[in-house]
Amino acid sequence: MEKKHESKEATRRDFLKTTGALGAGLYMSGAVVPGRARAAEKLALEGGAKAVTASAADSTKWPLYGDAEIEAVSALLRDPGYGPVADFEEAWKAFHDCPFTKAHFNGTSALTSMLFALDLPAGSEILVPNYSTWFPVVPMRFFDLVPVFVDVNPYTMNLDLEDCKKHLTGKTRAVLAVHWFGLPCEMDDIVDFCKEHDLIPLEDASHAHGARVNGVLTGNWGRMAGFSLQGSKPLPTIEGGMAMYKDRGDFERAVTYGNYDLPNTFPEDSPYRKYQGTAFGSKLRIHPVAAILGQFQLDQLEERNTAGKAQMKALNDRITQLEGLTTQYVRPGIDRVFYSKNMMFIDEAKAGISREKALQALQAEGVDVSAFTWTLLHTYPIFSEEKYWRHMPVLPEAVPGCDQANRQAIQLPYWTSDQPELVQQYGDAFEKVWANRKSLA
Ligand SMILES: Cc1ncc(COP(=O)(O)O)c(C=O)c1O
Repeated sequence: MEKKHESKEATRRDFLKTTGALGAGLYMSGAVVPGRARAAEKLALEGGAKAVTASAADSTKWPLYGDAEIEAVSALLRDPGYGPVADFEEAWKAFHDCPFTKAHFNGTSALTSMLFALDLPAGSEILVPNYSTWFPVVPMRFFDLVPVFVDVNPYTMNLDLEDCKKHLTGKTRAVLAVHWFGLPCEMDDIVDFCKEHDLIPLEDASHAHGARVNGVLTGNWGRMAGFSLQGSKPLPTIEGGMAMYKDRGDFERAVTYGNYDLPNTFPEDSPYRKYQGTAFGSKLRIHPVAAILGQFQLDQLEERNTAGKAQMKALNDRITQLEGLTTQYVRPGIDRVFYSKNMMFIDEAKAGISREKALQALQAEGVDVSAFTWTLLHTYPIFSEEKYWRHMPVLPEAVPGCDQANRQAIQLPYWTSDQPELVQQYGDAFEKVWANRKSLA
């Protein structure tokens, strides 16, 4: 048992140590030869040898916990209590340099508390990207809020501000930015847009812990923000959530929604102190085991993100030299992270091969790749059934950005440990398929 933990720790440490230099290292050693013509190599689809022979076992294993976490959780079990919750919230505040945080048992409870804290009149409209999850959107019905589904930019998969402009009405009150698969939204522009139209900027930062826009961490741009800490996320506690607030009133209201025991910790003049005991009907605090895991993960976040990004960069810099193959567009000033997948796009016209055919050929080479097609949020039945809403959601007539992303997106794995062979061989596989694409097409 001990041995197993040791080797897991060693793998993670090696990853952190080595991947930082990976991009440069592989190129300098001559191991990676970008753009090498591979037309002479027979495709695996046509009976040739596979380009990918390295084992992918455990390469995407996540979350990764080590002996320190196990020891800290064991200590809690020996002496149970809620102490780790406040410690985690303090650590989060210090890392993000934000005034108010509340840890929750999942991202949905953090985001739902945020919606309650908005305290908006019934029928208020919130712009939400159609390429997002239902978690912060379905609960809008509890508070008589109206989701208005807007399109995404097909090159980033994030909220399209131009489409937001088209959906403004006299009832629009807020914009919910969702940082899709680790790429932060252009929050400076979104905040400017919100200022111009007197809207509240909100963030669902569940895919982008530690990402930055103009040096400012996600979660710090919105008036309020929620994060999922579920086990697949960049900062995983298996199940957990965190909310961030700039404003004391928002914080106290949100905390009172789901914490019967905290109102009397607010200052004497707080209008929420009287709800001590009853709160507003929910109980949404984080489990202390998750708080322990979260604090360890927070300590490692920057290092892990940096190592993971360097590894993805080594692959992506190489394969995006191939015609018609791009990654999610990262605007200058944006420092992205990766969440679970390495999203790319195939522009069939430029690539000269269909997505389907390219995927077939890549899969035959041993590449773990598939089409990414997101079920557009507005198409779920809940958003069309009148019995569940006092004010019906506003469904879009057309979402060309989402449609383009769904036609072009492909998903590759995000490796969570040092995988130089896979980086090399995935690059080889893409080059081989692209070199042969005319015959495939
Ligand atoms: C973008 C986004 N927001 C919110 C959530 C909800 O978080 P949780 O599952 O922790 O409740 C998720 C979960 O997958 C998510 O991906």
